[in-house]
Order: sequence, then structure tokens, then C-alpha cells
Amino acid sequence: MLTLTVNGEPREVAAQASAPLLDVLRNDCGLNGPKYGCGLGQCGACTVLVDGVAARACVIPAGGVKGRAITTLEGLGSRDAPHPVQQAFIDEQAAQCGYCLNGMIMMATALLTENPQPTETEVRQALSGNLCRCGTHVEIVRAVLMAAD
Ligand code: FES
Repeated sequence: MLTLTVNGEPREVAAQASAPLLDVLRNDCGLNGPKYGCGLGQCGACTVLVDGVAARACVIPAGGVKGRAITTLEGLGSRDAPHPVQQAFIDEQAAQCGYCLNGMIMMATALLTENPQPTETEVRQALSGNLCRCGTHVEIVRAVLMAAD
């Protein structure tokens, strides 16, 4: 048994400490915001926040984040009250297939917490490790800059 703090709530899960955090979040906590892309820490689809810092949940053992605050896409905002970054992505229609958006939004949220007024170059640098196969980067960067305003 492991107890994790996810989106402000304690979650007791029957998972091994060595299980990838991504699997625990999706399979044990029922949180499907974080996506499985590569499973190797290389695409960013699985990004969550750990104590406010972006982290790749596919390569973090769940036991390694015990006692730390884990935030998933579901913890940012709700359908009725989206987080400003989520709202900006909606307003800019920054999705095509949408698979990368969890990572893009979580990474952008971490960036804006650290740097509330980033330049376009800083946004592009921050998101450079998050892959989008559809090529909606223009809308994604615009959304992050809009959320920063
Ligand atoms: Fe974690 Fe690709 S699924 S980085």
C-alpha cells in the first residue's frame, strides 16, 4: 500500500513503490489526464507537477513521490472553472488530436509559475521537450502567451 497526495487529496493505492507514477495515477487513481506516450521520459505526454515542478510521471517510481504534492491536469481546474492555461488552450483551439495537450498544459503551468511573463523564445524553449505530432505548435505557443497576459 502506498499513500500519495494527489490533487490535494490523500490517495491510498495498492501499488508497488517501484511502479511508474503514471501507471498508478491512471490505473489506481483513475486520472487519465496524464498520457502514456513513449514511456521513456522523452515525449512529455505524461507530465505532472510534483511540488509545482514539471516531472515525467512515466519514469518516476510512485514510491519516490510519497509525501509530495502531485498535481495532474484534473487538479488544475474543472470543466466549469478551467485554469487560465486550460482556458487559453480552449480559446486558441490549440488542439488537433489533443494527445500532447496534458504535457503542454502542465509544462506551461510550471513555466508561468516560475516566469509569469515569458517571451515567445522562453515559451518555445520550455516546451521544446514536449512533442506534438500534429504540428499545432503555433497555436500552443500563442495560448501560453495569452495565459501569461
Ligand atoms: Fe512519459 Fe513520454 S510518456 S515522457
